[in-house]
Amino acid sequence: IELIVDTTSGNASSPLLYGIAFEDINHAGDGGIHGQLLQNNGLRPSNDRLAAWSPVGPVDLYASTDHPLSPAIKRSLEVAVPPGTKGQAGFKNTGYQGIPVNADTYLNRWYVKGVYRGPVTVTVYGPSGRAYGSRTMTMNVNSTDYVFFETTFVAAQSFEPIHEWKLTFDAILVAGRSLHFALVELFPVTYHNRDNGLRNDIATYVEHLSPSFLRFPGGNNMQGSYVGSRWKWNETIGPVALRPGRQGAWGYPNTESLGLMEYMQWCIDAHMEPILAVWAGLSLDGNVVPGEAAMPFIEDILNELEFLLGDTSTPYGALRAEYGRNEPYDLRYIEIGNEDNLSGGCRSYASRFKSIYSYVHALYPSLTLIASTDQTNCLPEMFPATAYVDAHRYLTPDQFVGLFDEFDHIPRYPDFGVIVGEYASMKDDAGYVKQWQDMKGSCGEAVYMIGLERNSDVVKMASYAPLLEHFGMTQWSPSLIGFNSTAGSITGSTSFWVQTMFSRNRGTTILPVSSFDDFGPVYWVASSRPLSATSTVYYVKLANYGETQQKLTIRFGGTTFNAEATYTVLSGEPDAANYPMNSTVTPQVSTVQGESARGYTVHLPAWGVGVLSVVQI
Ligand code: AHR
Repeated sequence: IELIVDTTSGNASSPLLYGIAFEDINHAGDGGIHGQLLQNNGLRPSNDRLAAWSPVGPVDLYASTDHPLSPAIKRSLEVAVPPGTKGQAGFKNTGYQGIPVNADTYLNRWYVKGVYRGPVTVTVYGPSGRAYGSRTMTMNVNSTDYVFFETTFVAAQSFEPIHEWKLTFDAILVAGRSLHFALVELFPVTYHNRDNGLRNDIATYVEHLSPSFLRFPGGNNMQGSYVGSRWKWNETIGPVALRPGRQGAWGYPNTESLGLMEYMQWCIDAHMEPILAVWAGLSLDGNVVPGEAAMPFIEDILNELEFLLGDTSTPYGALRAEYGRNEPYDLRYIEIGNEDNLSGGCRSYASRFKSIYSYVHALYPSLTLIASTDQTNCLPEMFPATAYVDAHRYLTPDQFVGLFDEFDHIPRYPDFGVIVGEYASMKDDAGYVKQWQDMKGSCGEAVYMIGLERNSDVVKMASYAPLLEHFGMTQWSPSLIGFNSTAGSITGSTSFWVQTMFSRNRGTTILPVSSFDDFGPVYWVASSRPLSATSTVYYVKLANYGETQQKLTIRFGGTTFNAEATYTVLSGEPDAANYPMNSTVTPQVSTVQGESARGYTVHLPAWGVGVLSVVQI
């Protein structure tokens, strides 16, 4: 196969093309990227009462409603110590199938009410019983109100699988009485050292993807299983003690400790454009809130936008300042709903979209508003010229290849755009859902992504979904990155590596490529990006959706240079996958000698994805 890349013309590529979509599914948030490691730490009503908690020593534990910490945290952990009890006693927490214990400094905090004057010890320990980190401090409390305590301890690296955390005290000092503990939190050092921040190891791993945007907070989990359980922005802000949590749409309680401001901070810290999805009147049970009845929900959206974008003279802007951020956030994109073509939402979406659009656009004309579907029969006939549509694609590998040219012929209007806000090859070609992504699936996605990149004048953003899964606490497979509580468990799927290769080798201009060969089984796209006034980097992305290795010669017309090129390849058997603690399919980098006139000759293995990059100096 011979490719000739024209370096003299081309189309501008979207600078946001590759990003990530996040929702709390598969314990991606609680028990995932959010840094707080104890499960059921607020004993919120949506949790099984004592889930993850158990006694240490001969004490009784209750999820008590007698001493609420706040209107949101209504239960406390009552530790009742029988008369005459001696020695150390207290309670322990199993975390989310264990507590990750790394060489790190841990922050522990809790509220307590009761009478106690003496030592208290917090410890993380492994199944062998070995303590990896511990701190003993004095806890003096003699009050009818809650008192806040915090401490830190340094832990040693552990490679044991399932750790627990415990808090113990001198039982004789409480014998015959109870202590009430509330909102116990345990954090490792967080990403960018933020209070109530993210797990550093997972957030740093996500950085491999060089994501340009974050689409949040979902997904079905934003919609809610029913109207009352939708994601409510105003219950995810401010002190965690004031966040009531809710039953998430994926079958487990959400603490909402990872809330609106934490998402915006993640965007700031990782240099991602926020794409905020707002509730558009459709919950997953098919309930639709139309017309006049939708007004309170539209007001709620306007309040949320004022909270994010208003100055401190506005009520919600002032609230944001009270919660620690004076200046408005940088926010340019709002998605109206999620998959409103599904769950019986299609028929009413045009009118729901129009009314939310008109209220938001009137107040914030510079925001780009995104419809949650590209299905034209669900959209208004007169679709606003500056709005985008969101296409979700969960397909088989063959179907992705069949959609290689999906966006080749859609009309181009100056301000119109498409986002592919969720996609993944989630079934094999026989139609079975995959637990782990495999090389054939990733290769099919790569073909589709080449099609997206070729059309990235109109395809503005694309994000694989789901992003994260806690192995063993998963509702949806395959995901891009998996992990559990064991050291070294963070695993990138084969698709993670494809996303990384494509995102980290991005051009600003998509270049025409001519060839006597047709697309299939090999697909390609070329791009360039200026590095300085005199130097440019060229990229050629390739996917071989076939059973035999292919030889390609790639020439660059319109410019002359002799250079060493870098060639990165990901390949494997069609069913090759990266499993927890066992990554065998990772990109291999080599150098290729060539020159612009003769070109660069490379081999692309069967089911292979490749990127050739060459710098013109
Ligand atoms: O990514 C998993 C789910 O797939 C999302 O919550 C939903 O938007 C889609 O149907």
